[in-house]
Amino acid sequence: MKKLKEAFTFICSSDVWRMALLWTIALLFSYFQLLKNTIFGSKSTTSSSSNHSHTHRPVCVITGATSGLGKASAFKLSKKGFYVVLVGRSSHLLSKTLNEIKRQNADARLKAFEVDMSSFQSVLKFRNSLEQWLLESDLHSSIQLLVNNAGILATSSRPTFEGFDRMIATNYVGAFSLTKLLLPLLRNSHVPSRVVNVTSFTHRAAFAGRFDMDSVTGVNFSRSKQYPCARVYEYSKLCLLLFSYELHRQLHLTDDSHHISVVSRSSGNKHNA
Ligand SMILES: NC(=O)c1ccc[n+]([C@@H]2O[C@H](COP(=O)([O-])OP(=O)(O)OC[C@H]3O[C@@H](n4cnc5c(N)ncnc54)[C@H](OP(=O)(O)O)[C@@H]3O)[C@@H](O)[C@H]2O)c1
Repeated sequence: MKKLKEAFTFICSSDVWRMALLWTIALLFSYFQLLKNTIFGSKSTTSSSSNHSHTHRPVCVITGATSGLGKASAFKLSKKGFYVVLVGRSSHLLSKTLNEIKRQNADARLKAFEVDMSSFQSVLKFRNSLEQWLLESDLHSSIQLLVNNAGILATSSRPTFEGFDRMIATNYVGAFSLTKLLLPLLRNSHVPSRVVNVTSFTHRAAFAGRFDMDSVTGVNFSRSKQYPCARVYEYSKLCLLLFSYELHRQLHLTDDSHHISVVSRSSGNKHNA
């Protein structure tokens, strides 16, 4: 009965109605842009081939690779000849995903790491393990592609051990930290490398509300009765998009932009930062 009441209160909240309205408008706008780009834009090309020896395979890291877009990307990239590093928070789901991809593509080269993207300590440990694995596997000490895909839409506030709101920690802080930690490996690549940040069309709705340190740490939400899940999600994705632009700007300043490209991808649009 209590759960039913909670669900009813949630559905009746202004946040849900705001989400339904603004996200529909943002999605329609994204589809309009996609259609416009399809009609007037140029076709993108993919450059990797599937004929790679073990040590020369390009390596890609995909976070949130155990379901949805991340899992589909892992499968596609393994078909393209990438050595795919799957990052997920559940060892059970990781081995399930690994087996599923192997069943469909026996040639797939895969490695799984259990990482909690909402924890900086876990992300840092992953960077160290990844470097160690590259060394032990006789692979070049570099990566060619990083896909920051892991993301959640949480309906309640749960601060992380390190003191962030969990949705902001997973969708933005984790991706930010991982990218910064993996930059030396991306720079070390013999061929141009790329960072892909999976954002969302919903960032367009992030114009209302005040976001300060207490919002980022979740303190504001623990005090309020209703967790503004839609706003936090929109804000986390806006942060990731702005980070993509800022990273591009910084790489440009250090003359690295010709070597590492930054792309942010939402369901409808691609932004070349
Ligand atoms: N689906 C859409 O319509 C849509 C639209 C725009 C943007 N996006 C964005 O696209 C991305 C993928 O979405 P999706 O629909 O494919 O979602 P999904 O199926 O729920 O997949 C999310 C993935 O992230 C992982 N993950 C969540 N928290 C994590 C953590 N703390 N540490 C490590 N991994 C974690 C999940 O792991 P578990 O398997 O363990 O849960 C799962 O593998 C997200 O960033 C989402 O915001 C999606």
